[in-house]
Amino acid sequence: MREGDINIDESRQGEAIHIEQPSAPSTGLKMFLESYGCAMNFSDSEIIASIMSDVGYVTTRDETEADLILVNTCSIREKAEERVRNRLKEFKRYKLKNRRLVVGMLGCMAERLKENLLEQEKLVDLVVGPDAYRDLPSLVKQVNGGQKAVNVLLSREETYADVSPVRLDKSGVTAFISIMRGCDNMCSFCVVPFTRGRERSREPKSIVAEAHDLFNQGYREVTLLGQNVDSYKWNLDIKGIIKDSEQPIVRFAELLEMVAKVNPDLRVRFSTSHPKDMIDDVLHVIARHENLCKYIHLPIQSGASSMLKRMNRGYTREWYLDRIAAIKRILPDCALSTDIITGFCGETEQEHLETMSILKEVGFIMAYNFKYSERPKTLAERKFEDDVPEEVKSARLTEIIKHQRSYASVLIQAMVGKVYRVLVEGVSKKSAENFYGRTTHNIVIIFDKGDLSLCDYVNVRALDCTSATLKGEVTTDQADA
Ligand code: 5AD
Ligand code: SF4
Repeated sequence: MREGDINIDESRQGEAIHIEQPSAPSTGLKMFLESYGCAMNFSDSEIIASIMSDVGYVTTRDETEADLILVNTCSIREKAEERVRNRLKEFKRYKLKNRRLVVGMLGCMAERLKENLLEQEKLVDLVVGPDAYRDLPSLVKQVNGGQKAVNVLLSREETYADVSPVRLDKSGVTAFISIMRGCDNMCSFCVVPFTRGRERSREPKSIVAEAHDLFNQGYREVTLLGQNVDSYKWNLDIKGIIKDSEQPIVRFAELLEMVAKVNPDLRVRFSTSHPKDMIDDVLHVIARHENLCKYIHLPIQSGASSMLKRMNRGYTREWYLDRIAAIKRILPDCALSTDIITGFCGETEQEHLETMSILKEVGFIMAYNFKYSERPKTLAERKFEDDVPEEVKSARLTEIIKHQRSYASVLIQAMVGKVYRVLVEGVSKKSAENFYGRTTHNIVIIFDKGDLSLCDYVNVRALDCTSATLKGEVTTDQADA
């Protein structure tokens, strides 16, 4: 999970997720909602489903029977946009059969391309940016009345704090809670500040209430989402000046502690951290609460300070290594993962080697690796040339993946033999006889179902592993982690 898109579950990246939501007051209207990209988009789709269910739309899994098709899109890399475009062309064909069908594009691509999608590409009827979902019912009405509709206004305040998301994870074990929106960082490669606007934090009370509510419904894990959770702040302005002296100041460390206290049996994860903003206070809070998972996703992007400068990341290699040292000191058993971009503008062989060497030095249990994809309007597009040849980008990516895999597999093998407290999350895809769950370190472990149920906590001894997954057996022995 990552930043621009938060790769909570990289396997979801770019994959379409279909959303079914059963409990709406039926008006006979059917909506097909497809979500691309990051966890934040997935979480937004839960808000969209909620807003549309209030006006009577029932979700369907069959796109051919829908009255309304909404595609929640991602702009982070060009490929993500291509995939959506192809899908929209398919949907456009359905309109020949069903003239009443309304097709809408939501999310980052909508924000980036605005009216062009209606006027030049004529692919959709409706274009709605990430801060305008409250307006969806009236925009759909407008389209039904024969007009095209657009709302791509970004907001400095919108957090959808009062919208109760329709939960889309059918198993009812894990859920996302959005704690902030937007990003103020302006990393030079990243389109997110342009598509999701300025950073704003959601009121802490509503976050804690949502966590309580989820726990009472039976959920046992929440992931707090934001583009840069370490800069979460409530009741402070951008300059750090208190806004309302009657109200408390809540930064990320305090918020994390508030959510940790909801219940010791509610696991808490978060994404994404930013190396320049991650302070020791957060690490101390994680150390104090067993239910705060010992796993931090800390995107590095590059191991070379010269490159980090061009990327406008706000830290150096040494700074990043200092943050890693703090994690290892305060949370000795914490697993780490990262994001890497290969072939960013002007990347030299020496800079590439520095990235390779930091992977070895830190020891990430997982890394999400991307080839640089130039995005319109970004600082990099305006200032630098996308000059690393495609074949060099690919070769470096392959090299990074190969080395990273070997480092991660050593870490995973070292887990074999130990006992982990695992939350039962679902039936294994490979065998109906097995459940899967995750360790605090976010590593998937497979074990016999026995008489266990979803949402149970169980101790599992790891007996074996593949490159990224453990296999184990349930035990009454005490957990090591
Ligand atoms: N090209 C390639 N990867 C990118 N990311 C963000 N923008 C780009 C881009 N233009 C990656 C970063 C980020 C993750 C979510 O996506 O590694 O952390
Ligand atoms: Fe993450 Fe930087 Fe993009 Fe913000 S600008 S979302 S911190 S990569």
